[in-house]
Amino acid sequence: MQDRFQRTIEYVRISVTDRCNLRCRYCMPEQGVRKMCHEDILRFDEILRIVRALAALGVRKVRLTGGEPLVRKGILDLIREIRRVRGIEVISLTTNGVLLPEMAADLRAAGLDFVNVSLDSLDEETFSFLTRRPLLGRVEEGLRALEEAGFRDTKLNCVPLIGVNEDDVLKLAELAREKPMKVRYIELMPVGCAYEAGLRGMPMDEVRRRLQEAFGAFSPVRQEKSLRGPAEYVQPAGFAGQLGFIDAMGHKFCQTCNRIRLTAEGFLKLCLHAGTGLDARELLRTGADDRALMEALSQAIYNKPAEHHFLEAGGKQDSRYMYQVGG
Ligand code: 5AD
Ligand code: SF4
Repeated sequence: MQDRFQRTIEYVRISVTDRCNLRCRYCMPEQGVRKMCHEDILRFDEILRIVRALAALGVRKVRLTGGEPLVRKGILDLIREIRRVRGIEVISLTTNGVLLPEMAADLRAAGLDFVNVSLDSLDEETFSFLTRRPLLGRVEEGLRALEEAGFRDTKLNCVPLIGVNEDDVLKLAELAREKPMKVRYIELMPVGCAYEAGLRGMPMDEVRRRLQEAFGAFSPVRQEKSLRGPAEYVQPAGFAGQLGFIDAMGHKFCQTCNRIRLTAEGFLKLCLHAGTGLDARELLRTGADDRALMEALSQAIYNKPAEHHFLEAGGKQDSRYMYQVGG
């Protein structure tokens, strides 16, 4: 369906848990993570009701996120059920990769189409510093498991941080040179505990500049229009894969934003950085039927905000952490 700015909304990101087996410094504090209670989190049957209603409204793509989605018990069942929802064409998942060694094959069998792996560093020390867990080996094993399980077009997400993982900008790009994968650089956003942790993101222009210096000039690759996201992709000469850039702080992609988000507690967020939305859990738990649910969802989507207000509000629009909204 279209919102009031004629943007076609066809993509929902669903956070299935706020828990995580890593503690990335820009995302979570080491201790004192305020965990949601079990009852606060949407049950699978509730998620499915919302997915069915959204599919009826024209949503074609679902992405499962967290926290870390693979720590949610029964995630394979949820994927199997979403696979059966008429209208949903693509199911993907964003993970830190730690549980992929044992889960990749089952995820494939359950009907998952694509996986994005968050990987900020290929250096063991840097990885352990940033995530506060010494699990780089697991993630690397997880990447191999994805390939063996038959996943294609895997994307890697990296948040380049000044003085932390700057060298990884080039190291990760090497992977896209060798393999037909996409390596994407995401600008650090002023959410979660990024700034409290004393981290500063590398400006995307600087990331681009270094990559051009190392791999030669590049220009944007044309993307097919359907289901495109906020990343701009390039393919330097000799690359099997591509590099992508997500200028999170600019407003470039607000105008073509095709997505909405469902938090683990069942709040439908219309923009990553606005508090406005719909308490879908409350609706479901007070007995709304499918028709009332669809009505409420479609009205909420229609009123999706025009753009985010990071810069104006100093990033304090929504105090929720990234692990609570799912990136
Ligand atoms: N800024 C940018 N990206 C972030 N992520 C988590 N917190 C932030 C932030 N403050 C990223 C993770 C992951 C994706 C889901 O969101 O690294 O790749
Ligand atoms: Fe976990 Fe992702 Fe947050 Fe890291 S960024 S702590 S992997 S949810």
